Amino acid sequence: MLLEGKVALITGAARGIGRASAAVLAREGADVGVADILPEVDETAEEIRGLGRRSVSARIDVSDPEQVRRGVAKIRKALGDVDILVNNAGIVTNIARLTKMSIEAWQHEISVNLSGAFYMVKEVVAPMISKQWGRIINISSMAAIGGLHKQIAYASSKSGLLGLTKTVCLEHARDGITCNAIMPGMIGTELVNMMPREILESAIRTTPARRVGRTEEIGFLIAFLASDRAAFINGVAIPVDGGMTLNTGSLGSRKEVFEAAGKNDG
Ligand SMILES: NC(=O)c1ccc[n+]([C@@H]2O[C@H](COP(=O)([O-])OP(=O)(O)OC[C@H]3O[C@@H](n4cnc5c(N)ncnc54)[C@H](O)[C@@H]3O)[C@@H](O)[C@H]2O)c1
Repeated sequence: MLLEGKVALITGAARGIGRASAAVLAREGADVGVADILPEVDETAEEIRGLGRRSVSARIDVSDPEQVRRGVAKIRKALGDVDILVNNAGIVTNIARLTKMSIEAWQHEISVNLSGAFYMVKEVVAPMISKQWGRIINISSMAAIGGLHKQIAYASSKSGLLGLTKTVCLEHARDGITCNAIMPGMIGTELVNMMPREILESAIRTTPARRVGRTEEIGFLIAFLASDRAAFINGVAIPVDGGMTLNTGSLGSRKEVFEAAGKNDG
């Protein structure tokens, strides 16, 4: 097991990638504090305990620094100092072009997706410095480097997370702390699977792996980055996207191009 004796805290753990990743960390031996705005986060904690690990849930809104302070204190009291922080909570509230994007949506997405991560890091970093060991993993998105049509707030918040990741590395690598980002492609969460079929199929067509990712496939990388084996990987952003980024500019690898030409792309 990679994470025996470690305490992890993962935000946005009530469902989707966060919930699946919490279970992966527990299977690797970590005790896992789980935080979310939704009451279902209590079920995630139950699931972790069912795997034989300690767990406690905190119902918090990560965009509120006071709630973050309370939530981290609760988890620290129950499980001990946080060794591994996973900033996974994230939202999209307004799908609209720049001209139609509401100011409220912009502010809310930045405050949850970016400021929330900043508040969390500030709350957990002091004991990591004292122990000279810590792992911080930020769940960004491929939108951070490519932008995303009609999601300017989301894409900007995810790019901001990369700046945060790199700066934490620059300031705290000397303290035995690593801070890395993961950029998932299309991952088959409950919400993604409910997207209109045409959008889902188009995403699958542009992914060389010809499928969406499984939620635990993000968890596997989180677990590795959180382990001692990844001690020298710091300040980077790693795509987990079935090759989707490579494919976007590569006409020859697109199925529809071959189909239009009456050829089979194999
Ligand atoms: N699913 C994908 O294809 C995909 C792709 C790229 C990036 N991501 C990122 O992965 C992360 C997880 O996404 P997901 O697909 O599992 O989404 P999801 O909506 O299923 O899960 C997100 C979780 O975050 C929680 N959350 C939302 N606002 C919160 C707040 N203010 N405070 C605390 N918790 C809050 C939600 O309640 C939910 O449980 C997000 O940061 C998302 O941007 C997902």
